Amino acid sequence: MKIVTGSSNTDLAEKIAKQLGLELTPLETFIFPDGERRIRVLDNVLEDDCIVVQPTSPNVDTNYIELFLIVDALKRNGARDITVIMPYMGYQRQDHQFRDGECVSLEVMIKAVESLGADKIITFDMHSIRIPDLFHIPIKHLSAIPIFAQTIRKNGWENDDTILISPDMGGINRIKLLSEALDNMPYANVVKNRDLATGKVVAADVDCESSTWKKKSFEGKRLILVDDMISSGHTIDEAGKLLKKLDAGDMYTFVTHAIFSSEAPQILQNSAMENIYVTDSVFVPKVKQFAKLKVVSIAKKVGEEIKS
Ligand code: R5P
Repeated sequence: MKIVTGSSNTDLAEKIAKQLGLELTPLETFIFPDGERRIRVLDNVLEDDCIVVQPTSPNVDTNYIELFLIVDALKRNGARDITVIMPYMGYQRQDHQFRDGECVSLEVMIKAVESLGADKIITFDMHSIRIPDLFHIPIKHLSAIPIFAQTIRKNGWENDDTILISPDMGGINRIKLLSEALDNMPYANVVKNRDLATGKVVAADVDCESSTWKKKSFEGKRLILVDDMISSGHTIDEAGKLLKKLDAGDMYTFVTHAIFSSEAPQILQNSAMENIYVTDSVFVPKVKQFAKLKVVSIAKKVGEEIKS
């Protein structure tokens, strides 16, 4: 078996390689002055099962192109089987036509990676559970929820004083799964409204009906917010402000994909959260790291999946 990586998250690729007891197979990437890339595999991959690690996080387009070129290079050089580990998959927002005249960006990316010769995809916490149905090749949709449950237990937070919070109604399934993994820890949902014209997010209320925590007060309670991704940081920040007004105690956030915009680190550092836990599905460069940030790794889970 051979494992190669694009440039989007080499740290994660090294950790996955270690889990598998492999060295990364070197690639040569030449970037022309106009930005075009040329990829060359510097090892024999003939008849090998190959793993490509490349989350398509920002810069999304560059990372997709790099992935396409790597898959093509492996295929052309005789790889037998190609598994793409794309823990974060870009273009998930456009997974269907919302309005007449629109493209379906995600289907374009899927068609490209499939037609180039990828045989299997491993990914994490997709925005919608319907997305795997768009693939024609096998896809393993893993979740960071068990890793979060483990961290919550390790921190000794699995007692009656803790309530799980979904910062919007779209996260209800995610929060139910985490609740089940933590002996039915109570949960509540924030009602988030987004102004479609300005994009501004407002945490308007807590919905008691679809929650197992029925009170609109969190006095003396530790709150754990859970989401699939952070982009601008406003969803978490606004939820934190609302929950503080409802007497919340210490608050923590667990999020799979740290797609931080340039403003997100400051917003999150100044938020009401004690800590923000993210996975290493997306590489967080030094300039986007901040004191409250904690990173847990998905490498072991990916390694176990490949070995199985
Ligand atoms: C929305 O449906 C997602 O689950 C996240 O809540 C959202 O993408 C977070 O974005 P931001 O950090 O920009 O508020």
